[in-house]
Amino acid sequence: MCGIIGIVGAAPVAERLVESLRRLEYRGYDSAGLAGLVDGRIERRRAEGKLRNLEAVLAADPLVATVGIGHTRWATHGAPTTRNAHPHVAGRIAVVHNGIIENFAPLKAELIADGHRFESDTDTEVVAHLIDRELAKGLAPVTAFKTALDRLSGAYALVVLVAGEEGLIMGARRGSPLVVGEGEGEMYIGTDALALGPFTNRVVHLEDGDFVDIDHDGARIFDRDGEPVERPLRIVPIASALVEKGNYRHFMEKEIHDQPDACQHTLSAYIDPITSTVSSPGVDFAAIDRLQIVACGTACYAGMIGRYLFESLAGLPTDVEIASEFRYREPALGPGALCLAISQSGETADTLAALRWCKERGITTAALVNSHESTMAREVDVMFPTHAGPEIGVASTKAFTSQVAALTALAIAAARQRNRIGAGEEARLAGVLLEAPRLIADAILDDGWIAPIAQEIAKARDVLYLGRGAMYPLALEGALKLKEISYIHAEGYAAGELKHGPIALVDEATPIIVIAPSDALFEKTSSNMSEVIARGGRVVLITDAHGATHAPEGVSVVIAPHCDPLVAPLVFAVPIQVIAYQVAVLKGADVDQPRNLAKSVTVE
Ligand code: M6R
Repeated sequence: MCGIIGIVGAAPVAERLVESLRRLEYRGYDSAGLAGLVDGRIERRRAEGKLRNLEAVLAADPLVATVGIGHTRWATHGAPTTRNAHPHVAGRIAVVHNGIIENFAPLKAELIADGHRFESDTDTEVVAHLIDRELAKGLAPVTAFKTALDRLSGAYALVVLVAGEEGLIMGARRGSPLVVGEGEGEMYIGTDALALGPFTNRVVHLEDGDFVDIDHDGARIFDRDGEPVERPLRIVPIASALVEKGNYRHFMEKEIHDQPDACQHTLSAYIDPITSTVSSPGVDFAAIDRLQIVACGTACYAGMIGRYLFESLAGLPTDVEIASEFRYREPALGPGALCLAISQSGETADTLAALRWCKERGITTAALVNSHESTMAREVDVMFPTHAGPEIGVASTKAFTSQVAALTALAIAAARQRNRIGAGEEARLAGVLLEAPRLIADAILDDGWIAPIAQEIAKARDVLYLGRGAMYPLALEGALKLKEISYIHAEGYAAGELKHGPIALVDEATPIIVIAPSDALFEKTSSNMSEVIARGGRVVLITDAHGATHAPEGVSVVIAPHCDPLVAPLVFAVPIQVIAYQVAVLKGADVDQPRNLAKSVTVE
């Protein structure tokens, strides 16, 4: 899940390639590299680690080229070193790749037997050698490329530069996204429209199996059978300016503060505040007998909250499954089912595969996505938007609460459509939900409780999170947030599960964070807290002012705004995000780009 970019330019491209790579760093930041044509020869610059390392290399040794390709890497095959950084070069060919060439090992053995010498441990390098071998046989570049593609299995988006072919870049996609952009006397090719944003908003999304060659005059696209095809040109609403952190120290901090606006904008897509009605554009939930939610990571936890809502409000049987598991079994879904994918990026490989699995079986598909130009958004029958705006921090915050806000609205719409509630109750619930942005803002303002608790948690090696009902997915989310940015081992459990095993972990060195608003389940969770305290455990209780007055003796308390249970997952998400953020800052971790991770996971 790397980011790739290519420019056939009318002016030098190195700086612009780097600008694009900065927008693609969400896909990986293990290494970065560029290659350009200088006097018809391939020159390349590469660096291990973040993009700024490549910029330092370029400052010391500029690359002056008007045609070039670039790459930012999330390592799959081969350590994240300069030697394994893309572009990979063989003879006259330089290649950048996003995806995995699954049959690279036999191809590599064949090429070595044929006299080719490899300089990296990557799967990608075989592609450069394969194309170069065909070129050496006298084939034209496009034919050589197509012949090499026919040997590959796995997933790829590839962009290729050919020495001696000034003004030519070739690309191909199978399983990984690739778009072509049209400029004035220039052409672009890259992973997504965001990467092309500084140069053009006129993009063509290649379809699976397509390959393309671009030059100054335009693009020629061929389908998987080699037939010339036209793909529609889209004008995409991409601002050319890169999102900035402003006065915030990290994007994650900014994005936590963006949440009231993000939820407000998202809710406005579903709720009419004048009529107090809630809609689900494109889907009639009365016509559906089962909802299957598929997602990964944080988006899956949003889906788990959605399940509570769809079942309790609308009486709609709902399952939630991690997409990577869903796709590898044979789920028994009938024609009355709706498959709903939830994804910030709209590109997560496992979620996309689960959607496609459903589509192939004639099941209606929908996606709740934040990237409205993503592959999921374009492939599903119905796209439900979140309007969180670009989320840059790897740890999802505003995308999560926007997903939960949208799911809550959709569950209310479903309840009305399925005659579970009347117009009066619909209006009341809509009113409650519209209060959420203000309550989230209050929760953000009132974070003074957290600093001393974060100091304690930062010293821990292990942390447990507990919750009941809709707070259980929040416990899972809290644990994920803490481990991904602070590298502290954390686990989330349903509070009732504590005594079925995890209680053995309780000791004075393991903080237990309990998420329990003062609702119908509070007393039961309070008993679980007492069980922990009786065994010498340290409890941090996240609750509201009423819950705080009923907290067992000896717990540390974080107070969130009192709210209706309908919006509690939105309001209580804030303190768990802030705890993770503050702990990570105290530990000096790389909050926005944690080790080993990428924002968008486009490989299995
Ligand atoms: O783009 P998606 O919403 O499909 O991404 C799913 C997960 O990779 C993502 O939520 C991940 O778990 C986050 N880093 C968690 O903060």
